[in-house]
Amino acid sequence: MAQKDTRNEKFSTRIISEKFRKEDVHGAISMPIYRNAAFEFPNSESIANAFQYKEDIASHTYTRITNPTVENLENKIKAASGADDVMMVASGMAAISNTFFTIAYAGSNIVTSPHLFGNTFSLFKFTLAAFGVEVRFVNTDNLEEIASAIDENTCAFFCELITNPHLEIANLPEISKILKARNVPMIVDTTIVAWCGFDARAAGVDIEVVSTTKYISGGATTIGGAILDYGTFDWKHNKRLSSVVKTDTMSQFSFKLKREIARNIGAAMDPETASLQALGMETLQLRFERMSASAYQLALFLSHQQKVVKVGYPKLDSSSYKSISDRLFSGNPGAMLTFSLESKEACYKFMDKLQIIRRATNLFDNKTLIIHPESTIYGTFSPEMKEVMGIESNLMRLSVGLEDISDLQEDIINALAILD
Ligand SMILES: Cc1ncc(COP(=O)(O)O)c(C=O)c1O
Repeated sequence: MAQKDTRNEKFSTRIISEKFRKEDVHGAISMPIYRNAAFEFPNSESIANAFQYKEDIASHTYTRITNPTVENLENKIKAASGADDVMMVASGMAAISNTFFTIAYAGSNIVTSPHLFGNTFSLFKFTLAAFGVEVRFVNTDNLEEIASAIDENTCAFFCELITNPHLEIANLPEISKILKARNVPMIVDTTIVAWCGFDARAAGVDIEVVSTTKYISGGATTIGGAILDYGTFDWKHNKRLSSVVKTDTMSQFSFKLKREIARNIGAAMDPETASLQALGMETLQLRFERMSASAYQLALFLSHQQKVVKVGYPKLDSSSYKSISDRLFSGNPGAMLTFSLESKEACYKFMDKLQIIRRATNLFDNKTLIIHPESTIYGTFSPEMKEVMGIESNLMRLSVGLEDISDLQEDIINALAILD
């Protein structure tokens, strides 16, 4: 079947109509699950060619390296994002760690905000530190601080698109100008806003990492991660990648990641996971837009409740990030919001009374989820570390799902009533 030109198609059409690389022999319209470890070749020469990448079309040899079902998901994500290269891995954390195992080296440093997802903070501060990689924390609202933290061994600037649970938004287009002048790549964890709401390439992102466990998996079915390479950075400026050959099809980053790092780390995505997440991709826009609209309505609703001390959502007029949010996300900053009550005790009482909203960690499940970050995600961090990370004890995080908004509001009203 001839390859279709999809450039003019809209977001969901591009994902849903993405064709398989090879036509299915039975005409299956969804990619079958290739739940096998190894692939057989007709003769010794063809298996040798596949291992040496001599085939015109790359062949699959072993599922830890590549797999047709996983590749199909990678192609859907390419169609959604416009990235040059996509690699699926076993989790969001595997996406972040594989990325830094590819570019960091002993003596290098990462410039980032201390306001990070807990495991990312721990990866930078403890895991990578053991290999001689330094983390330099900066206030990402302060462009001068970012510029002065960079030196010739800065392997990347990293941040989360909307920090969790602080809901800060770095001005990526402005930061990108500084990074380009200093030859430093911009790596952004964009888990919080799906591709239909954010154009990473236009914002200056070079490498994007995503926990596909969240919006992509389609109802929290599976754990997964994606690494997207926009092909926009010249890796000759990275001391570790400067000698890696740039091929016609891959940047030095993707080459090193795919041909060495990812297969050595071995955190490959499972084909059954890829199948579920490919199905999730087909309804991504529908779910993202509905969840985000409900999140905004709930944020407004919570702002009018007397017992609620503070509400965080970037689209609210009260947010100091509203204007950058409107610019980067076309006024649609996703389905995560935060709100504070008078005390930690009040948060516990409120949460224990909820009937529809679930007490669980995760984001962008079809179900609305609530969590008290200070005692859970950051529960084992020292008070000093919590202080550095800005984790408040009276704050809760809400991930808004697909239930009817009026039922969620009623659940909140009933739970707030217990605080009288
Ligand atoms: C912003 C962000 N990045 C990365 C991760 C890690 O993703 P995973 O749980 O898929 O490893 C999370 C998990 O909650 C997250 O919220």
